[in-house]
Amino acid sequence: MSKKAVVLVTRKLPPAVEARLKRDYDARFNSEDKIYTSEQLIELAERAAAIIPCHTEKLTAEVIARLPASVRAICSFSVGFDHIDLDAAKARGIIVTNTPEVLSDATAEIAMLLMLGAARRAYEGEHQIRTETWAEWGATQQLGIQVTGKRLGILGMGRVGQIMARRARGFEMEIHYYNRSRLATDLEAGAIYHERVEDLLPHCDFLSIHCPATPETHHSINAERIALLPDDAIVVNTARGAVVDDDALIAALRSGKLFAAGLDVFNNEPGIDPRYKTLENTFLLPHIGSATRETRDAMGFRALDNLDAIMSGEEPRDRLV
Ligand code: 8YV
Repeated sequence: MSKKAVVLVTRKLPPAVEARLKRDYDARFNSEDKIYTSEQLIELAERAAAIIPCHTEKLTAEVIARLPASVRAICSFSVGFDHIDLDAAKARGIIVTNTPEVLSDATAEIAMLLMLGAARRAYEGEHQIRTETWAEWGATQQLGIQVTGKRLGILGMGRVGQIMARRARGFEMEIHYYNRSRLATDLEAGAIYHERVEDLLPHCDFLSIHCPATPETHHSINAERIALLPDDAIVVNTARGAVVDDDALIAALRSGKLFAAGLDVFNNEPGIDPRYKTLENTFLLPHIGSATRETRDAMGFRALDNLDAIMSGEEPRDRLV
């Protein structure tokens, strides 16, 4: 019997995913689910043929340069890959894969939840019930903004953005979008394309961010761009915190330029900017876009399909480099 390849699994994964890993590989699990330091990760990767990280592991150029020579693959349990220096991996001949498609529905669900929750002041209502500060019903109390029939701007019309658009059409929303390239007419399904982010923003009663974190998108939702949104607009982010300039967003939430924000992702997670927590017009979730039982299993199996392909010398489906 041939020896099983060693695989470092940096975080605790769903039981069915770990069971498959155990069956097919000599897997090093993280049963306590503690976040490894870079030093620990490098040490634990000793003799490993592959690493399965999450977005919580920062595989910078420095870390990748110090990985043991045995590491041939990084099969990330994530669609986003801003935590991995792809150039550094490529330079070392390490194959990198991600898990697209399988988390698009779950993430769009959370974007819908944030959009509705921010517009209807869900945080404030929930808080009143739990703190027993709900004094009496009032015809002028807890007034939110209606979602139905409004304009939704989608920044980044990839897989998640397209599903978000489909779900929002159920609320009779008019869809506008910016994407690096215009979608084919059938995929657009009537959505209105804008060639520049600046052209999109004035049409957004709601802005939902679905673009990846890249050097180009870093802090791209800044003060100048927020100023282009209509007054009382609502910003939703399920992509990456790095797309947003926190100072600018917080200033606009405080001044009343924006009605509210619904955020599932932040700069510097989990140590988010504390000012968000002091605002009543924020609806905040702890990066749970893909957190459904079905999706987390599917992400794990997709990462393992990629790993299996690499280990048997085949081309993995989701190769990034
Ligand atoms: C994941 C995500 O939960 O896949 C991504 O890019 O942002 C999340 O939905 C997380 O990254 C898992 O590593």
